[in-house]
Amino acid sequence: MVNIDRKVALTGIFLKNDETISMLLTLMARVWILPSRRLISIIGTGKLGSAVALQVASRELGDLRLVDIIQGLPQGEALDLGQMAAEQGADVDIVGSNDYKDIAGSDLVVVVGGLGRKPGMTRLDLQEKNEDIIRGICDKIVEYAPKTLILMVTNPLDVMTYLAWKVTGFEPSRVFGQSGMLDTMRFKYFIAKALRVSTSSIQAVVIGEHGDSMVPLPRFSTVNGVPITELLSPAQVAEAIERTRKIAAEVIALKGATIYAPAHGITRMVESVIKDKKMVLCLTAHLNGEYGVKDIYLDVPAVLGARGVERVIELKLNDEERAAFLKSVEVVKTAVGHLKTVKVS
Ligand code: LAC
Repeated sequence: MVNIDRKVALTGIFLKNDETISMLLTLMARVWILPSRRLISIIGTGKLGSAVALQVASRELGDLRLVDIIQGLPQGEALDLGQMAAEQGADVDIVGSNDYKDIAGSDLVVVVGGLGRKPGMTRLDLQEKNEDIIRGICDKIVEYAPKTLILMVTNPLDVMTYLAWKVTGFEPSRVFGQSGMLDTMRFKYFIAKALRVSTSSIQAVVIGEHGDSMVPLPRFSTVNGVPITELLSPAQVAEAIERTRKIAAEVIALKGATIYAPAHGITRMVESVIKDKKMVLCLTAHLNGEYGVKDIYLDVPAVLGARGVERVIELKLNDEERAAFLKSVEVVKTAVGHLKTVKVS
């Protein structure tokens, strides 16, 4: 934990002379001189971004920079969350800003910015508008936080993660997306309901597109090590798969957006990065030959740590599972092909 007094003293010495110098030296202190808390930036502080900030702050995972284009919104969120953290005893420095320069020194940038689905839309329907928004955000990340990792949340998730990789030119391991965390928690939820068992006994696995062609894998989803295919009837398995595919649209139709489930999935990923936990999670990662496919971002099990995606875990898929996965590959590759300004190799 940073020794706040030393940091304030250091900053204070220079405040007298010049704000810029003190900002610069505070940044230097953060990066080189003082051991400092990790820095997490969240781009887009609407309902989902602020829900992520709340969980990250409450778990004291690191200092937070909240950035949004709406004047006052990130600043208000930062103050509100800062007071909550004070009561929790969570010693995190939360700053809200409309200026990307404040993400400088970030260890991880969570990109939530962009348009969300309206009832009746698919995630892919968002591609046209969100491509320009994500391109703009990525240009700012390269300018102000060129060493950061990027956790993409904006839909269509697999395509926007691919776009972020292409626009930033970062190593593929430094760019990844939140998809499987969310799809597996939903699959787990429906399996638990069908079996009437604790969700803590369930490991669920979902791969492929974060979209209608996603591939829940019942053979690899287990209850205390027992595959659900040995515990549920084929009809019950099919129902759990169908509900997992459709539940996001259902929630959006009812309340306008999904918030707490994605916020929780994102926070678990942030934790795995910030604490270098090397959790094995289903997430959107770059494939360079794994599962027999290249030059694509898709949801697969992978090891996530302080350096980003450390390695992809290859499951031994049977013919049916593989066919479904390749269908997902097709859907995402086609969508990537429609990106206006990215050459698909
Ligand atoms: C969902 C959005 C985040 O699945 O894609 O809730």
